[in-house]
Amino acid sequence: MNDMTPLDTSKKPQVKTLPDAQTVLSVKHWTDRLFSFRVTRPQTLRFRSGEFVMIGLLKDDGKPLLRAYSIASPAWDDELEFYSIKVQDGPLTSRLQHIQPGDQIILRPKPVGTLVHDALLPGKRLWFFSTGTGIAPFASLIREPQTYEDYDQVILTHTCREVADLEYGRQLVEEVKSDEMLRELTEGGVDKLVYYPTTTREESPKMGRITDLLKSGEVFRDLGIDGISAETDRAMVCGSMGLNMDIKEILESYGLREGANSDPAEYVVEKAFVG
Ligand code: A2P
Repeated sequence: MNDMTPLDTSKKPQVKTLPDAQTVLSVKHWTDRLFSFRVTRPQTLRFRSGEFVMIGLLKDDGKPLLRAYSIASPAWDDELEFYSIKVQDGPLTSRLQHIQPGDQIILRPKPVGTLVHDALLPGKRLWFFSTGTGIAPFASLIREPQTYEDYDQVILTHTCREVADLEYGRQLVEEVKSDEMLRELTEGGVDKLVYYPTTTREESPKMGRITDLLKSGEVFRDLGIDGISAETDRAMVCGSMGLNMDIKEILESYGLREGANSDPAEYVVEKAFVG
């Protein structure tokens, strides 16, 4: 399905190589609706964990078709990781889901985003609230040493429809907690990481939307926490438009204010991008 010429540096290019081309290194399919992949990192690309870039493929007319994707790997990684939904009639993901190692994708090396440590004031506890592929920027941030340097506790919540949709995050958290290099980088700070997965449409140990679990206080009872306060708690939110709006309202009710790179405060929000 991929109509792009693989990068072959051994030959002189006969056709113009793709602008901003990166090579696919590996692809993993998690469910029939979710996959992740790793690509080469441009040597000049600098980004902050939590940011996103535009990636895509060439259309049949030779023009690039690009979408915003959070970088799921941390800033120190040699490769770039992305986590994506597969939409069967989606202009980009209907094709992107078929990429194979060795294929090329387009990656515009201009990272941006609000889910960065710089946009938050110092605090004691950091919440990452995500639904679906909205976990991607937090996949980066839970592998970022600064996360554990800046906070006493880090809580990652992930709400998905079904148990299989949680698997990418579940394996990642397991990997973070057991990875020797990460343990060293964070001086064991990964022990501060608490994972709180929930499902809404399939039986699992914890069911319900995170918004309802916050409103009822169930999250706090489960985690042995008094509640969320503007003095101690900071939050980053990434999910569907509905999730983002509902969590904003809840966080504001606790007295937290929305921050930005130029004006740090107690929480930041970004919508999960669907390719
Ligand atoms: P639900 O099954 O109750 O809609 P999606 O696959 O549609 O992006 O949803 C991913 C997860 O996010 C689902 O578990 C869904 O729950 C949940 N979700 C959707 N909207 C909201 C919202 N406004 N607040 C909290 N969770 C939400």
